[in-house]
Amino acid sequence: MNNNPICFFDSGIGGSTILKEVIKKLPNENYIYLSDSNNNPYGNKTKEELFKIVNNNIKTLLKYKPKLIICACNTATTTVLDDIRKKYKDITFIGTEPAIKIVHDKYKNKKTIILTTKGTAQSERLKKLFNKYKTTDCTLVEAPMLASLIETGKNPYPYLKELLKNYTKVEVVVLGCTHFPLAKKEIEKVLGKVLFIDGYSAIANKIYNSLKDNNLLSLNNVGNLHIIAPNQNIKNKIIEIIKEN
Ligand code: DGL
Repeated sequence: MNNNPICFFDSGIGGSTILKEVIKKLPNENYIYLSDSNNNPYGNKTKEELFKIVNNNIKTLLKYKPKLIICACNTATTTVLDDIRKKYKDITFIGTEPAIKIVHDKYKNKKTIILTTKGTAQSERLKKLFNKYKTTDCTLVEAPMLASLIETGKNPYPYLKELLKNYTKVEVVVLGCTHFPLAKKEIEKVLGKVLFIDGYSAIANKIYNSLKDNNLLSLNNVGNLHIIAPNQNIKNKIIEIIKEN
């Protein structure tokens, strides 16, 4: 048993869409959420810039003696997490990748788009995943502006209407950025009813299994959440996301 926190980070509020699922599965844990909104969007940064940014996040989180660090960001996971793992060999990291495999395993015949940031779409990791699991009618769509529109509270609909105008027959949308679940309503306003895939329950299971296997689960603890964010407004948004059904 271990009550040290599980630490999350992302380029802002997006990663709290994962945190919400993890808290449901593991309510007794202590959590730290680092919302690095000042560096949003990660998706338009170079690999070198992102490595420095993520490295700083890790340094901040290490002060809390985490038992696990969750990279709640597809962009950081697909571009720099391997290098970060090499640098911090004693820390267990769990990342987030677009859940293309779920489409491959369960929805082979459905017309699908994988919606990601520019950084994720152009990463070697994503190219490998895409080549391995792409189905017959599956397109990778970059949405370079979407995460920052969501982060800054702007309406993403006009942008999505233009971006997705050629995909109106799509049946499945893989949300390949943790900010994108926050624009589900606007995506469906453009595409009509679709099946959204985020892969978060698999991440929650991975976290549970990792803690259980290493005897690190918090059992008789009243779980709490500490948010590190540039201002109260962002903290409030994160709390709101976690409380939504
Ligand atoms: N939420 C992040 C992701 O999953 C990053 C979005 C961004 O800052 O570009 O990719």
